[in-house]
Amino acid sequence: MTSSPAPDVVRSAYAQLAVTDLDASRRFWADLLGFHVQYEDAGVLCLRGTDELTHHSLVLRQGGMAALDHLSYRVRTPEDVDRAERFFAGLGCPVRRVPRGQGTPGVGDAVRVVDPLGFPVEFFHDIDHAERLIQRFDLHRGAQIARLDHFNICTPDIPNAYAHYESLGFGCSETIEGDEHELYAAWMYRKQTVHDVAFTGGAGPRLHHVGVATHESHQVLRIADVLGALNEQHHIERGPGRHGVSNAFYLYLRDPDGHRVEIYTSDYYTGDPDHETYRWSVHDDRRRDFWGNAVIESWYKEASPVLDLDGNPQPVSDALLDESAVRVGADGLG
Ligand SMILES: [Fe+2]
Repeated sequence: MTSSPAPDVVRSAYAQLAVTDLDASRRFWADLLGFHVQYEDAGVLCLRGTDELTHHSLVLRQGGMAALDHLSYRVRTPEDVDRAERFFAGLGCPVRRVPRGQGTPGVGDAVRVVDPLGFPVEFFHDIDHAERLIQRFDLHRGAQIARLDHFNICTPDIPNAYAHYESLGFGCSETIEGDEHELYAAWMYRKQTVHDVAFTGGAGPRLHHVGVATHESHQVLRIADVLGALNEQHHIERGPGRHGVSNAFYLYLRDPDGHRVEIYTSDYYTGDPDHETYRWSVHDDRRRDFWGNAVIESWYKEASPVLDLDGNPQPVSDALLDESAVRVGADGLG
């Protein structure tokens, strides 16, 4: 435990991914999916959606291996960056201050940590602003990505992940639980949606996916049609479908390196102070797909490795519970 107050986190702000072929990644994320290129140089690409007024929500960095560089959360004030530094130092985590100009383009003074779950995580307040593109319909392409919505992370100990994010002030919108209320998965938020971060029980630390929002479900369907038309349907891993958890309409894609992205729309408001957690049984086969379609094995088992603050891969531990091993019979019980 740490005695230092937690930083006031506003929202999940961006993910930075290491990719092995930046040109191939640019084509997938910008030309096909429809992210807007805000900044690029020989080694990095900063991307954002149409609704976003900050410099980026996804950063692709040319690297030697495909991995998560870091997840990044925006905090309320500059002082919250200092609070984040003290909070994680108090937990005994590796902590590094990253002044403006030495980290990701567009981002001001930041703190990067390896959190107690083993994930590289950044906290910042100051970031360059960007032009509003919501009505620049002439620039919209592909799935017409509106904004980043959430991170989904694989971690072997869900109660531990829940407790850590609860200590950072996150609320819980939904869970998947066993008969004894053992946690298989949880969805947690700071902004007033279903989540900023979700935990998938599995070998970890690994990045399961980045979730990006569209305004309407036809935009989710459209990118599937575009990929089919290009004979690039191999990028489609799962869906389209409707989640039981979150009610969102979804489609999961894999980028040229295997990084997973969820195209996601139509979840709900969670901002009331007495918002109650909705708890799904792990035996309810509508939890992962409301129409009861089976979840493909790769979705449960495959994920991106994560790096430490020096760019080395973090060691991975196996899960304590395996949701994919829960089989649902004709009576709806595992
Ligand atoms: Fe998701």
